[in-house]
Amino acid sequence: MKLTRVPRYLINFSEEELPHETYEVIVVGSGVAGLSAALEASKSYRVALITKTEVGRTATSRAQGGIASVQGDDDRFELHVQDTLAAGKGLCEEPAVKALVQEGPERVRELLTDIGAHFDMENGRLHLTTEGGHSRRRVAHAGGDATGSEVELSLVEAIRRNGNIDLMEHTFVVDILTDGEGCKGLLVMDAVIWEVRVLYARAVVLATGGMGQLFSVTTNPELCTGDGVSMALRAGAEVADVEFLQFHPTSLHIAETPRWLISEALRGEGARLVDHEGRHFMEGVHPLADLAPRDTVVNEMVRVMKEQEADHLFLDATVIPEERLKARFPSICRHCLDAGLDIARDYIPVSPAAHYMSGGVVTDLSGRTCVKGLYACGEVACTGVHGANRLASNSLLEGLVFAKRINRALEKDFEGEVSGTEERNIVFQVKRKRAGVKAWTVRGFIQQIMMDFIGFRRTGAKLTEAEGVIGRIGEVLDAEFYSPAGYELQNMSILAAMMVEAARQREESRGCHFRVDFPETDDWHWRKHIVFRMEDGKILSTARPVNALAASYGWKEDRT
Ligand code: SIN
Repeated sequence: MKLTRVPRYLINFSEEELPHETYEVIVVGSGVAGLSAALEASKSYRVALITKTEVGRTATSRAQGGIASVQGDDDRFELHVQDTLAAGKGLCEEPAVKALVQEGPERVRELLTDIGAHFDMENGRLHLTTEGGHSRRRVAHAGGDATGSEVELSLVEAIRRNGNIDLMEHTFVVDILTDGEGCKGLLVMDAVIWEVRVLYARAVVLATGGMGQLFSVTTNPELCTGDGVSMALRAGAEVADVEFLQFHPTSLHIAETPRWLISEALRGEGARLVDHEGRHFMEGVHPLADLAPRDTVVNEMVRVMKEQEADHLFLDATVIPEERLKARFPSICRHCLDAGLDIARDYIPVSPAAHYMSGGVVTDLSGRTCVKGLYACGEVACTGVHGANRLASNSLLEGLVFAKRINRALEKDFEGEVSGTEERNIVFQVKRKRAGVKAWTVRGFIQQIMMDFIGFRRTGAKLTEAEGVIGRIGEVLDAEFYSPAGYELQNMSILAAMMVEAARQREESRGCHFRVDFPETDDWHWRKHIVFRMEDGKILSTARPVNALAASYGWKEDRT
C-alpha cells in the first residue's frame, strides 16, 4: 500500500495538560445505532452521547424504505436468513445473520411500544412492503417513506427525556485514547471553538455511521466521512470488507444538484426501471427482475447506460395509482415536485449513488472490537451481517439489534472491573508540518478519484493508478490540521487507501465489488474477508476465512 506512515494520533498532545471529564460509557454517533446504544447503556450507566454536528442530520434520518424483520404470517426466520445470506454472496458471518433476524421482531416491537415510534399500520398490524432481494413482504415503514426520520425523532425524544445521558452536539472525536490495557476514552474537539479535551470512559461505543462522502455521488449526508473506522484502526482495532461499498440503484439524477434517495420501496410497490428506449431492462436479468439484489440491478444499469451512452435511466412510478403513490410516498412526491417532476405522470431520472458500507470495524457478536473497552455498532461496524452486499432495510434493524447486544456485553465486561482511569501520562509529540492545503479542496479530489477509479466497475490497472494518487494524497497525514474538516480529510485518506488496496487485492467479482478483469466469483481463493490492522504506523492486511472474522477476539473469555 503506497500510503505514507499513519500517525497513531492526528494531533500532538500531553494528556495531563488537557481538561477532562469522566463517564462510564461514551457513545459516538447519533443515528439509530448510537441513539439506541446510548438508551440501552443509560439503563445502568452514566452516558455521554457525542455527535459531531447536531442530532437529526444523520443517514438514519434520511432512510426511506424501512426496517426489515419477520412479521408476516407467511414469513419465517429461515427465509429472512436465506435472503440476507443470498444478498451477501458467500461472505456473511452466519451466526451474526441469525442473531439479527431472530432478535429483529422483538427490537422492532420495543421501538414501537417502549420508544413510541409511529409506524404505518393496516388492520391493527404493521403494513409491510418489500424491497430488492426479499422473498416476502417484511419491510415495516413510517410516514409512508419517512421511516428514518420517525425512528430518529422518536429515539431523540427518548434521549432528551433521559436524565442519565449527556448529549454533546458539535463535538468532534479526533482520536480514541488507548494505553497498554485498551481504550481509556476519547480526545475530542469542540467543533465550534476548536478546543481539545479528554473524555474518559470505561467503554466507548462507536456508532459513527458510514463513509459515502468518499465518493462524489452519494446519498449520504456530508458528515459520513468514515471517521470511526479510521480512528478505530489507529487505536489498534481491525477493519474488514471495506471493498464492499454498496451503490443504491436509484438516486434522483438532476444535474448540478446533490443526489436524493428514491426508495427501493417504490419498486416494491410496482415501479419499474426503464431505459431510454422504453424497455423494462431488468426483465429476464434476474428472477426478481426490478427487485433483484442491489448489486445485480446496479450492474445491469451500468451496462445499459454504457450501451445507450447515457448518464442516467428512468424509474416509472406512473404504474402506481396516483392516490396510493401520494399516500405511500409523500416525501418523494414532494421532493420530486420541487424539482419540477410530477411522478404520477413523469418518469423519474435515476442513476446509482454510493450508499452503504458493508464492511467496517470488526466486532464479535456483541459489538466488541479487539481493543478492550472499545465497541462498535451500526454501519461503522463489521459483524459480517452484510457480507459482500447488504440486503435492503437490514441496516436500521442492525442498529437496534446490536446496540442491545452491546449493552448485554457491557454488563458482563464490567463485572469485577475497577472503574476510573488513574494515570494521565500519555504524551504524543511527532514532528509535523503545518497543513498547506485547503481540506475541502483535497476532499473534492478524493471524492472524484474514488468515483472514477473504484466506482461501479473496477480494473486492476485503474486500481493501481488510484493507489498511486491516493498514496500521494496520503501526505496530508504528515500535516498538522487544527479543524474537524482537516481531521475528516485525514480519516478519508486512510479509508480511501484501504478501500483501494482491498479492491486491488480481491481479484474476483462478488456482491458490490465488480472487477471487469475478474468477472467471476472465485470462492476457492476469495471466500475470505480482507482484514486490515495498523502496526508501527503501517497498515497491514491479511485474508481471513468466513465464519472466523472475530474468532480470535479473546480479551474477555465470556463471549455473549
Ligand atoms: C431505500 O429506501 O431504498 C433504502 C433502504 C436501504 O438502504 O436499506
